[in-house]
Amino acid sequence: MAAAKRGTIQLLGDKRKRGEKIVSLTAYDFPTARIEELAGVDFILVGDSAAMAVHGQGTTLGATMDMMIAHTRAVRAGAPNTLVVGDMPFGSYQGSDEQAVASAVRFLAEGEADAVKLEGGNPRSLSRARAIMESGIPLMGHIGLLPQSVRATGGYRVVTSASAERLLAEAMSLEAAGAFAIVIESVEEALARDLTRAIGIPTIGIGAGRYTDGQILVVSDMLGLTPDFDPKFLRRYADLHSTILQAVTSYAEDVRSGSFPGPENTYSPTGGGVE
Ligand code: KIV
Repeated sequence: MAAAKRGTIQLLGDKRKRGEKIVSLTAYDFPTARIEELAGVDFILVGDSAAMAVHGQGTTLGATMDMMIAHTRAVRAGAPNTLVVGDMPFGSYQGSDEQAVASAVRFLAEGEADAVKLEGGNPRSLSRARAIMESGIPLMGHIGLLPQSVRATGGYRVVTSASAERLLAEAMSLEAAGAFAIVIESVEEALARDLTRAIGIPTIGIGAGRYTDGQILVVSDMLGLTPDFDPKFLRRYADLHSTILQAVTSYAEDVRSGSFPGPENTYSPTGGGVE
């Protein structure tokens, strides 16, 4: 059978079958999505982490549908050939199956996403997931630490093997419902490995150790734009906070000293500025 095309949900399943790791990052804007597509990322999640990473909020709870649709459109424009998954924000699916379908439809119709993700594997989340998939919209699950439920769970804690039975039931139910992949967040490595072995669809880990089928990170964290956020699971691949701070400081110095703009940056008939 021919390998699945780039930009399809089937690609992730193919990679798992071939034992190839799945590479994913979040993105929220056009230029970042363009770079991620160039680098060959397998899928881009337009995460509701946008509320924190882009809008400076303390949790993901303030992400709205309008905000997420705008970010998703921008990401699609930057990454026309990559699988783009829109993250359903808090309040966009909790109300009813009908609300969940209407929100998911907006992600595909207005945001031009290929699929959506929602958090949780309890009976209510499963009902929403099934309704979305019955509408013909591919769905990615998300189990383990659920940032949209931090008010109920009391914070951002690593999920341990004490929750193994529950997580296994959630993962299996999501697979049985038709999810094409599952994000596993902040889960002990052995448990994430066992979950990955127990199901037949790709698992994508964040803070879930080495044995999931793929990895995802929040792009602003891995690029070093959030210097105060330093969890154990994160590896930084750049220090953009320092790079940008240095650039902006240099620019401010140049403007204040009068060295920017220089003659080469000005428009004049001779091309070199006026004396
Ligand atoms: O919103 C997000 O960025 C996410 C990832 C952490 C998986 O859900």
